Parts: sequence; C-alpha cells; structure tokens
Amino acid sequence: MSSKMKIALIGYGKMGKMIEQIAINRGHAIVAKIDKDASNADWDALSKADVAIEFSKPDTAVENIKRCFSLNVPVVVGTTGWYEHHEAIKQLAQQGNHAILAATNFSIGVNLFFHINKILAQAMENLPEYNVEIEETHHTQKLDAPSGTAITIAQGILAEISRKQKWALSEEAGSESDLSIKAFRVDDVPGTHSVKYTSDIDDIEIKHTAHSRSGFAIGAVIAAEWLPGKQGYFSMSDLIGF
Ligand SMILES: NC(=O)c1ccc[n+]([C@@H]2O[C@H](COP(=O)([O-])OP(=O)(O)OC[C@H]3O[C@@H](n4cnc5c(N)ncnc54)[C@H](O)[C@@H]3O)[C@@H](O)[C@H]2O)c1
Repeated sequence: MSSKMKIALIGYGKMGKMIEQIAINRGHAIVAKIDKDASNADWDALSKADVAIEFSKPDTAVENIKRCFSLNVPVVVGTTGWYEHHEAIKQLAQQGNHAILAATNFSIGVNLFFHINKILAQAMENLPEYNVEIEETHHTQKLDAPSGTAITIAQGILAEISRKQKWALSEEAGSESDLSIKAFRVDDVPGTHSVKYTSDIDDIEIKHTAHSRSGFAIGAVIAAEWLPGKQGYFSMSDLIGF
C-alpha cells in the first residue's frame, strides 16, 4: 500500500484517539470517525477509506466488522472479548474474500512474548513437576476478564502442555488440569501479563509490562499499512512472521 492511506476509525475512545495521532504522524489521513451514534454519512465516509481500524466494545465489534465486509473495506480489529464469534467471522472473511486482521494485542513486544511463551511451554511438557499459572493486570475500565492477551497466552500453553486441559479464571479453577488465570484490575495500568512456572525447587517467570498504550496503537497502524490488497483472516503473527 502507498505510504499515505485513507484510514477510518471505528471506536473513538482511548485507543481510537491515540491511533489517530500516530496515523497522522505516519503521513496518513483520517477520513471517518465512527463512534456510538454514527450517522449514515459517517459510514459513507468510511466506505471510501483504504482500511478501517476497529477499537470499540466487545458487544459492538462483530456488527462493525460485518459492516466493513459489506462495504469491502479491509478492517484491523483490536477490540477484545468477542471470541465466541471468531470462527463465524473467519468463515465470512474466507467465503466473501474480505480482509481482516484481528489481534488481542498489537504490541510487537507482546507478540515476541507469545513466541517465548510457546517455546517455554514446549520445554515444560516433559517437566510435570512444574505447575503453571497466568496473571494479568489492567486498568479498572476494562470490560472483559481475563484479557484477550491472557487468553492468547493460555492458548499457547494449552497447545503444548497436555496436563492442562482448559483455562479458567482463578476463582473458578477447580481441577489440577485447569490453567488458572488471575485477573487484577488496578487504576491506570495499560497491561501487564506474566506466566509463572512453580516447582518445589524453584520458580521461572516471564513477564511483559506495557508502559503505555502507544505500543498497541503503533502496531495497529502498522497492521493497517500491511492489510489492504490481501484477502482472508490474519493475525499479528502473519505480519511479524513468528
Ligand atoms: N488489541 C490490542 O492491542 C488492544 C489494546 C488496547 C485495548 N484493546 C481493546 O480495544 C477496545 C477499546 O479500548 P479503549 O481503551 O479504546 O476503550 P474506550 O472505552 O476508551 O473506547 C471505546 C469507544 O467505542 C465507542 N463505541 C461504543 N459503541 C460503539 C459502536 N457501536 N461503534 C463504534 N464505536 C462504539 C465508545 O463510545 C468509546 O468511544 C477494548 O475492547 C480493549 O480491550 C485492545
């Protein structure tokens, strides 16, 4: 895609506003801003965009994605908490030759963390003396728990460690085979995730701490530069290559 793009924002909250600044700094134009109560004229403006970036709410993302599909606008989706619809959206994208890149976390550092998490989990498959649990901390306005990022981390572990069968919030984790996720909500924390392996002898912990939201916003704009011209359902690992 050419260096200057026409970008539409869907969701003009904390993330939408930060993405706007970064997109403009990278030479792009914002041609539409869709928030709740958007008018038909706003959606007409969106239909002329090269790409849309969607950071709204768990219960509004799916409808917004479908609307982008119907207008043939590629869409980068950062909203979390709509996992039960992932498969259906994937199929719609593939059948209709639409373009979507969805990620629970756009930060390059977190995607590196996902990679390290899988390698560590592979090694731990044969070390049953280690138990594993996940912790995440986010700001108090976050609507979903556990975070989408924590769920992606959990999926990386569950794919490798057969003694864990499913993830569960710590207060609901009942059996040894549950992968427990502790979710904390603390004012102003942009996002902290850790994976801790514990044995009688020692602990091994990997941790990612976001200092601000800008890593998510930069990653989303890079994804928006990458997606136009492609067809199908993509994730950040398609873009980063691991
Ligand atoms: N993937 C990532 O890297 C990443 C990073 C940060 C946040 N997030 C997720 O992105 C989402 C947004 O986060 P935020 O911090 O900007 O939240 P926010 O609450 O500050 O902003 C959400 C915005 O969406 C608007 N909105 C409500 N209904 C809408 C609709 N039907 N269409 C369009 N917009 C609508 C709200 O009015 C609000 O302005 C959350 O799900 C959050 O978990 C993802």
